[in-house]
Amino acid sequence: DPERVTTERLDADTAGIVRAAHLLGQGRLVAFGTETVYGLGADATDARAVAAVFEAKHRPGFNPLIAHFTDAEAAFAEAEPSNLARRLADVFWPGALTMVLPRRASSTVCALACAGLPTLAVRVPGGETVREMLRMVGRPVAAPSANPSGGVSPSTADHVMAGLGGRIDAILDCGPCGVGLESTVLDLAGDTPTLLRPGGISVEAIELVIGPVRRLAPAGLPASPGMLASHYAPSLPVRLDAAGAGHMEALLAFGPLPGTTRQQTLVWNLSPGGDLHEAAARLFSGLRHLDDEGRRRGLTGIAAMSIPSDGLGLAIRDRLQRAAAPRPRHLRHATG
Ligand code: TXA
Ligand code: MG
Repeated sequence: DPERVTTERLDADTAGIVRAAHLLGQGRLVAFGTETVYGLGADATDARAVAAVFEAKHRPGFNPLIAHFTDAEAAFAEAEPSNLARRLADVFWPGALTMVLPRRASSTVCALACAGLPTLAVRVPGGETVREMLRMVGRPVAAPSANPSGGVSPSTADHVMAGLGGRIDAILDCGPCGVGLESTVLDLAGDTPTLLRPGGISVEAIELVIGPVRRLAPAGLPASPGMLASHYAPSLPVRLDAAGAGHMEALLAFGPLPGTTRQQTLVWNLSPGGDLHEAAARLFSGLRHLDDEGRRRGLTGIAAMSIPSDGLGLAIRDRLQRAAAPRPRHLRHATG
């Protein structure tokens, strides 16, 4: 393991943003909040800095990173947009959409960041703070979600500190993430637009702009190089489409609580009123809370109620399926 460093906590004021941009420019690792989740950023043109991201997260090197930009013009200087990609950028950027496009021969992004692929994933994130920081850096910033590989993605600066504190140089505290789920990843490099990862922008909304999108394989079959079946995994096992919690289970609820719910049941309701945006924003905090508190109480699992599969529900279901998937032995008892 790399030696421990002191992780600076930076406020989202001018001094904090300047410091974050300066550190990134020096090849250091800085986590920052976007509208989706917190990312762990590094100068995407600096192979040593990018290598340090993989090391800090224990992320397999075959899983490429998303390059983040302050605007579409900067993104399209590195990756070549189709007409559909330009239309999507007009409608959804800044926002929770990542586009996989042919990487330009002139691209400055290092090969390690895109795992040697001929494509590059690009995104213009929402949030004034992060875009101001990106503008100051003036180079593409590679950023995976700021969690140890295989764990639950962070939606607050505290989550990042819990998972990566001591392993990264700084965290720019941009407050809690509004969307709470990662961006939608759409492959536009081939003939047919293909959904690689459902996320913060629904496929229905994308199809209104560009027409039919090929849906991804069911969770469990990796579509994107990084889409390992087990992901977003709390340490307690997750049971899907549960009608209610068993005696020793915590309950991840959606909508009205089942009548069988006992007074002492540990409950996190994603959205009592059944709102999918609210549920998305509360998902990762809920998994963390039920996992931490559930283990403290000696519970044996998390029962997750059924979520509809339209709109953001597709992405929520995808994350829950991955949280419930059989996982590599080394993650079974992982914490954080
Ligand atoms: O919302 C988000 O997307 C966050 C914030 C920080 O922007 N980032 C994020 O990054 O979730 P990460 O690394 O956890 O997920 C990126 C996904 C992975 O599944 C990866 O395999 C896929 O995007 N990806 C990246 N580059 C790709 C490429 N060239 N072709 C196909 N898939 C790619
Ligand atoms: Mg991730």
